[in-house]
Amino acid sequence: MEVIIKRDAEEVSSEAAAIFRRQLKQKPQSVLGLATGSTPLGLYKRLVAMARAGELDASRATSFNLDEYLGLPGTHPQSYAAYMREHLFQHLPVARWHIPDGMAQDIPKHCAEYEADIRAAGGIDLQLLGLGSDGHIGFNEPGSSLGSRTRLKTLTAQTVADNARHFASPAEVPRQVVTMGIGTILDARHCLVLAFGERKAQAVAAMVEGPVTAMVPASVLQMHPVCTLIIDEAAAAQLQRREYYQWVYENKPAWQRG
Ligand code: F6R
Repeated sequence: MEVIIKRDAEEVSSEAAAIFRRQLKQKPQSVLGLATGSTPLGLYKRLVAMARAGELDASRATSFNLDEYLGLPGTHPQSYAAYMREHLFQHLPVARWHIPDGMAQDIPKHCAEYEADIRAAGGIDLQLLGLGSDGHIGFNEPGSSLGSRTRLKTLTAQTVADNARHFASPAEVPRQVVTMGIGTILDARHCLVLAFGERKAQAVAAMVEGPVTAMVPASVLQMHPVCTLIIDEAAAAQLQRREYYQWVYENKPAWQRG
């Protein structure tokens, strides 16, 4: 795993945007795995600005979102479908986008179809991930099977509390979600994880330097052949080897810088 430590959230988002730009330049028909929440907002703003400046073209790309709340229609303002329209797709259209349907009648069938659609698209080239303060990726909460596929999951009380800021009251946060599984995420060719702020420092340390365990789902990314973690200094605060990660980054050979 490559660990890149930047000064603040702005710099994290810029570095991530450069990775997206490179990916789309190398392969305009890329299949992108996308995330929601507060973490990607700065990145999405930059991608839109790059597209407006003619520096990035996503018009031939396909996207698959990680997750959606169960029971929220795409028209609900807190649904992830509404989030994606507002923050990305209405400004930066992709050729085809996919978001799990939280209103599907037959959830297991819908999840199997979502997996089949990812496979039919050729698999995910670049998967964006935020990090839960409890170490979740997608909505694979601690204890999730490391081989799991897209399915229904119940959020932890902590995640419900973390996400309550987007709803009128904690009682309105759906308790269940449809999420890509950890196995689904691991199939992506490149995983890109972003995190900032002190609130994520413990999860970052457990993900990078702790044991690989289902209790910290993000720690499984230690097994992924191409994973980039970009964090700010506050989120890096509990890393024991942060100086080494900075040293590696500063001494990267020119051909690896892209
Ligand atoms: C969102 C997702 C979640 C979030 C995570 C962090 O699609 O899959 O894993 O990335 O909960 O959320 P924020 O970015 O709001 O701190």
